[in-house]
Amino acid sequence: MTKEHPKWFQSWFDTSYYHLLYKHRNFKEAEFFIKNIVAYLNLEKGDSVLDLACGKGRHSIFLNSLGFHVTGLDLSKNSIEHAKTNESNSLHFKVHDMRDPFKSKFEVVFNLFTSFGYFEKDEDNFKVIQTIKSSLKHNGIGVIDFMNSPVVIDNLVAHNTYEANEVKFELKRNYKNGFITKDIQVKDAGKTFHFKEKVRAYTFEDFEIMLSNVGLHLLDCFGSYKLDPFNIKTSERLILIFMAND
Ligand SMILES: C[S@@+](CC[C@H](N)C(=O)[O-])C[C@H]1O[C@@H](n2cnc3c(N)ncnc32)[C@H](O)[C@@H]1O
Repeated sequence: MTKEHPKWFQSWFDTSYYHLLYKHRNFKEAEFFIKNIVAYLNLEKGDSVLDLACGKGRHSIFLNSLGFHVTGLDLSKNSIEHAKTNESNSLHFKVHDMRDPFKSKFEVVFNLFTSFGYFEKDEDNFKVIQTIKSSLKHNGIGVIDFMNSPVVIDNLVAHNTYEANEVKFELKRNYKNGFITKDIQVKDAGKTFHFKEKVRAYTFEDFEIMLSNVGLHLLDCFGSYKLDPFNIKTSERLILIFMAND
């Protein structure tokens, strides 16, 4: 039997280059958003929180410091290994595929910083919505922080370069067949590597349908980490707040 080639999201997010390219998406940004969203949601200390696709755990770690019991799940072994150095009685990390249901239920489930739309088939992306639903307690709250696809598509930079720590990145972006693709060439110490990101450009309306199909009720929608109201024409982010109450 031939071994299947790893999917882009299995290889790219597991590299140190992903973390280098997105190094401005740091703890400071995570803390700013979490402070705002926790105040808005009026959560109580001790509430249990799932950070689905947590990466190295920047949101999980800060949520835990605020007094919540936090579980972070991610597919990337390297990111989870890194996150685990912060584990405590009330902070746990685990390698887990977000398409598969998780065994516990939580007061809040977060899916943050465009950790959605990675799969070719809509039914696989929908599995992530089902995981969120099945991980929520009755009256539990879900938060998905996605890009505002129409604005991202309108402002797509076709080509640019970036350099950090003597690593050179060449980035090419396009929008085709409903997917935003970023081709990433990395030059490091005389070697060249190729990666990509390919994200389904779901819109507010697509999420409305997916959420209602599993009985999740949309409560609110914000357009930035400052929690400005969502505007489909101008907002950078699409931050959906919803409840499981059926
Ligand atoms: C854009 S990063 C965001 C990470 C984190 N939420 C943050 O804000 O730093 C997307 C994350 O999704 C994870 N991921 C990709 N596919 C996954 C899957 N099938 N199951 C769980 N996590 C996955 C990646 O490993 C990566 O850590």
